[in-house]
Amino acid sequence: MQIRPYQGADEAGLLDVWHAAMTHDRISAEIFRTQVLLDPNFHPERLPVAVADGRVVGFVLALARQVPLFLQGLEPERAWITAFGVHPDYQRRGIGRALFGHALDRLAGEGRKEVAISPYVPNYFVPGVDVNAYPGTLPFLKGAVGFEELYRAISMGADLTGFQIPPDILALERRREQEDGVTIRPVTSADLPDLMPFLVEHFGWDWFRHAQEYLLQYFGGGGGSPICFLVARQRGAVVGFCQQRGERFGPFGVRPDCRNLGIGRLLLFRCLSIMSARHVFYAYFLWTGEDAARLYALAGFKRRREFAILRKTL
Ligand SMILES: CC(C)(COP(=O)(O)OP(=O)(O)OC[C@H]1O[C@@H](n2cnc3c(N)ncnc32)[C@H](O)[C@@H]1OP(=O)(O)O)[C@@H](O)C(=O)NCCC(=O)NCCS
Repeated sequence: MQIRPYQGADEAGLLDVWHAAMTHDRISAEIFRTQVLLDPNFHPERLPVAVADGRVVGFVLALARQVPLFLQGLEPERAWITAFGVHPDYQRRGIGRALFGHALDRLAGEGRKEVAISPYVPNYFVPGVDVNAYPGTLPFLKGAVGFEELYRAISMGADLTGFQIPPDILALERRREQEDGVTIRPVTSADLPDLMPFLVEHFGWDWFRHAQEYLLQYFGGGGGSPICFLVARQRGAVVGFCQQRGERFGPFGVRPDCRNLGIGRLLLFRCLSIMSARHVFYAYFLWTGEDAARLYALAGFKRRREFAILRKTL
């Protein structure tokens, strides 16, 4: 068994391993090319592959910033692992341990101080390790490689067939509008001068980038999957937003000092109702905590997957 950097001819072999080992996170060759090979932070040295019997049998995909993420900069001490796997026929032979050893040595040699699985922006696939889909992976990461679990993220999904906004939510919407001057409307170009600084100030550059991606398509006439982007204002000031494209819902957020007024709930129900009217009959998201999960459950979301987010200090 040999470990070496990824080479162009490895694509089919690596994807075979990816599909066999990461059964719940399969990707197409197009996604591999656009989100891995064309990621500006990709470097083949940070994608070691294990080769045995003349074929790729394992890999670890690690990333570290080569270009800054807006004002978050280069984050020179940080690195992320977004995918890894050993082909089931070759598991429990020490290949995973050797691959991680190789990848982590490389990152330490670059001066990285910590590595996380796997909240890397922009191109993460899932928040972390699916604890139900890959029951052996946490024991491996914690026991053999020395990662610690930080927290869990919950992915949920909802069937939107026949979705209706319940009467109490409609009543809340009227009350907030009449008593507190809260409006929720699809975004227009007139929102942009307030909205974009609002996103940066209250939610950071990653959410700005995510919103910008949808809005570039929305205002650029890009077509493709339908987008709903709602802006909540209270007496003229932006207090919240909600975005959706295709079946993927979110993120959505409310200004910290305006929370607990039900604005998030109104954004959520309004957006789901627009999705259902556009014949988008399923909504899902990858990442929430237990508190928000209760709110989503009110709108019919059910748990799909649970991810462990892990970190190791180098
Ligand atoms: C996790 C994974 C990479 C481990 O690869 P591997 O080559 O089998 O791992 P190793 O042989 O190096 O295992 C080293 C040690 O880790 C632990 N370990 C590995 N797999 C384990 C399992 N299924 N259950 C419990 N412990 C395990 C053991 O202590 C093992 O040592 P041992 O075999 O002497 O007992 C592999 O199981 C895999 O591909 N899993 C699915 C992919 C995945 O979860 N990807 C994450 C998506 S984000």
